[in-house]
Amino acid sequence: MCGIVGYIGENDALPILIDGLKRLEYRGYDSSGIAVCDGDKVFSVKAVGKIAELEKKINEKNPLNPPFEGGQKITLLPKEGEGGFNIGIAHTRWATHGAPTEINAHPHHDCTGKIWLVHNGIIENYQQLKNHLLEKGHKFISETDTEVIAHLLEDLYDDNITETLKKVLKLVKGTYGLVAFHNDEPNKILVAKEGSPLVIGLGENETIIASDVSAILRYTKQVIYLDDGEIAEIKGDGIKIYDANDSEVDKKVNEIEWDMTQAEKQGYPHFMLKEIFEQPETIINSMRGRYIVEEGKAKLGGLDNIADKIRDIEKIIIVACGTAKHAGLVGEYMLEEYAGIPTEIEYASEFRYRQPVIDKKTAVLVLSQSGETADTLAALKEAKGKGVLTLGIVNVVGSSIARETDAGVYNHIGPEIAVASTKAFTSQLTILALLTVLLGRQRNMSLVTGKRIIEELQVLPEKIKKILDTNENIKKISEKYFSMKNFAYLGRKYNNPVAQEGALKLKEISYIHAEGFAGGEMKHGPIAMIDENFPSFFISPRDSVYEKNISNMQEIKARNGKIIAIATEGDEKIKETANDVIYIPKSLEMLTPILASIPLQLFAYHVAVLKGLDVDKPRNLAKSVTVE
Ligand code: AGP
Repeated sequence: MCGIVGYIGENDALPILIDGLKRLEYRGYDSSGIAVCDGDKVFSVKAVGKIAELEKKINEKNPLNPPFEGGQKITLLPKEGEGGFNIGIAHTRWATHGAPTEINAHPHHDCTGKIWLVHNGIIENYQQLKNHLLEKGHKFISETDTEVIAHLLEDLYDDNITETLKKVLKLVKGTYGLVAFHNDEPNKILVAKEGSPLVIGLGENETIIASDVSAILRYTKQVIYLDDGEIAEIKGDGIKIYDANDSEVDKKVNEIEWDMTQAEKQGYPHFMLKEIFEQPETIINSMRGRYIVEEGKAKLGGLDNIADKIRDIEKIIIVACGTAKHAGLVGEYMLEEYAGIPTEIEYASEFRYRQPVIDKKTAVLVLSQSGETADTLAALKEAKGKGVLTLGIVNVVGSSIARETDAGVYNHIGPEIAVASTKAFTSQLTILALLTVLLGRQRNMSLVTGKRIIEELQVLPEKIKKILDTNENIKKISEKYFSMKNFAYLGRKYNNPVAQEGALKLKEISYIHAEGFAGGEMKHGPIAMIDENFPSFFISPRDSVYEKNISNMQEIKARNGKIIAIATEGDEKIKETANDVIYIPKSLEMLTPILASIPLQLFAYHVAVLKGLDVDKPRNLAKSVTVE
């Protein structure tokens, strides 16, 4: 998730652009940049790291009149021509294609240095477009998908950048929030939206465009939200907005009620709740461009360079920590049942110290949202030292773990800010399911099975939305139990890891003791803890072990244990045993963990809020455990 800011107006663009970038830093940054029209030239600076690094570099580039740290303002003159409005664009990057370097930072430009743009999203067909442009002699500087658009605009430019942009976007497949300008057409800035957010702020004699309102609020509360397929041509004296059929549209001007802090959280009270509610979108982004339905196949571009090696894999060891380890345990069940590959899952902190038996046909798969977890990185290096193939599923592009693995798959879900992992978990499960299809279809998985899994993945976002719509019911249930001191979480097969994950969510943000384990283990000891003050969560969807779960629940009920059940929509029988029921839609057994984990995330969230705790930053925890 990158942050974009655009400006056209009578004031200095640069300070407004930098201020906007700082408001968007929470969207993730590994690098940033600006480009501002300065007469016939374009003044551009880019830097790796925080926005403060960019400010430093801008100062260095203008030692005579540093615009920051109390120095003089830079006055970048607008190009001679109509109106004399200042124009500029800016970007904080959350890398998806190409490592986080200064060269890959936005803004990007064409060969002439006259067309500049910033982009948030993923251009799926960028390689094919880039090859075509390379053949036509275009010179690329970066590894990004974004730069392709700048060269396409140059290639098709017909003295009207607005009409050219309309033509270019018909060739592009993927998602974009885009702001661009051509320095030969002064006083005009272009905006386009498809799948990534963009807002236009209408100020006094100025217009500010941004990824979200937090970068605009300081200047105006009057905003226009662009819809997918729309292109805006913004001049100093007015805006024209065109829809996907190139018809001019009138857009409603909205008044923003949020304050700045609310804006960063998109109106949610906590990042954790925002990230829970982002999951329909992040599941889509995790899958985007990664399957061929009619062939029942998955295609994970990050594994292309080792395609022959993954065919030879005869065993997989999954290594991770915390939530990622729970995702790995679901992956173990998936890979064994649907790809027929013997799979083990191990805590990274254990793997690195025990003496694992690994042969050359074994692949080690590491899961990590941050890509910086010390135990996981050390375990990965241990595996590499034994010469085995190492794969990764990582969210942060260019992170240590991402760079250390032989190949891998990025989550593409934007930064996960809340310490308690939610959207990363369901994204990891989604990618593990795609990996299972990819490996399974190279082995004994039929086209029909592969297709069925992919089709079910495609409808998961809608099913997640249905669960999110029951948030109020889940909140009511949390109000009944939030004062409890202990909780058991139970599930079988694919939902055993979900039970462990649900327990982790509760304990790490509400500090209540919670234990997650396989339902069949109750009678081997834990049931001794159960009484009326020791409630249990039972993940008990209609699946192959449903009847077993019901008998476990009856054992608990017989000891006055209270039960909250996660059940499949329409299951009335479970009400005979459970005190409270949270329903989830029916799905394939292997994908049910993606659905079942949502109510557990919400339950933990509401309990922590009811206890008045710091949901996003729980005590004693860090978002990325970079120490052993
Ligand atoms: C999950 O809610 C915790 N914050 C923690 O267990 C986390 O999953 C673990 O530290 C692994 O982090 P990683 O995915 O960034 O490697």
